[in-house]
Amino acid sequence: MTDLDNFIAGLPKAELHLHIEGSLEPELMFALAERNGVAIPFASVEDVRAAYDFSNLQDFLDIYYAGANVLLTRADFHDLAMAYFQRAAADGVVHAELMFDPQTHTDRGVPFEEVIEGLLSAMAVAEAEYGITSALILSFLRHLSEEAAFATLAMAGPWLDRIAAVGLDSSEVGHPPSKFARVFAAARQKGLKITAHAGEEGPPEYVYEALDLLHVERIDHGNRALENPALIERLASEGMTLTVCPLSNLKLCVVSDLTDHPVDKMLALGLKATINSDDPAYFGGYVADNYRAVAKARGLSRNDLVQLARNSFTGSFLPPEAILANIEKLDAYAAG
Ligand code: HPA
Ligand code: ZN
Repeated sequence: MTDLDNFIAGLPKAELHLHIEGSLEPELMFALAERNGVAIPFASVEDVRAAYDFSNLQDFLDIYYAGANVLLTRADFHDLAMAYFQRAAADGVVHAELMFDPQTHTDRGVPFEEVIEGLLSAMAVAEAEYGITSALILSFLRHLSEEAAFATLAMAGPWLDRIAAVGLDSSEVGHPPSKFARVFAAARQKGLKITAHAGEEGPPEYVYEALDLLHVERIDHGNRALENPALIERLASEGMTLTVCPLSNLKLCVVSDLTDHPVDKMLALGLKATINSDDPAYFGGYVADNYRAVAKARGLSRNDLVQLARNSFTGSFLPPEAILANIEKLDAYAAG
């Protein structure tokens, strides 16, 4: 490990864009398939990894939803999240905001309660064992109807005080934020914070819709906002956080090479970019791997890395006093 690798591993950071189902490593997929007697269309762990060759978002989503079939019980969701927290702890993560896709599970007959209670129990252990605080973001699948999203929000009713925010993920093109304006308004009325994937594959107009119709507090990805100077200006002036995912962008061909990744351009434009892993088991790295890969490819300085970590705290859904405490930790680390 180089000095920079070590600096990144120790850098206190929050992870804001992580699909917990996307942290399902092939080894755990096999173990859960066996435990639950679920058949999977792969002969070996190597076979699974070989299938992770995507040319776009949909290629990935097809395999990601298939992988999630092995998750059935609250113990499965607990084990899944614990495996993530273990990697996060090693990567200097002190706070994580986990997206989960209830519809991927409830549509297979897995009760909402099993999903969320398994995640919540792991979150409690992560705080006790690793000192990692965490929050949940309930994400609606945008390829499904708004009516289905409303049904999911209703299912979450008994746990609303344990859910920080709602999000929007899955197949972006053809499923604009406007399709979900009413359910996001209902979620806001319930006091939930709002985020949405926008501008990963979808056009800048989808980012405008996320801002104006969903009233997002963060944009997940946001890469294609860079095509529109007025939008860049607006995102910068509003201090809107972008949860950028370099290795995801590479694997899903949002960028053709990491040397073309725009994260430092975003910082130079005054955009509040953060670094995240998205679906680390599928995209070849956890959050520190993402910092390292893009730092090397773009020649980021320590100051850039500290700025990205600072943005991860100020862009989090933590209360102000917790943000301040984390920033103090970061500043102490950066001062060496
Ligand atoms: N984009 C959209 N939906 C997703 C992603 C993503 O990167 N990961 C998991 N669901
Ligand atoms: Zn994502």
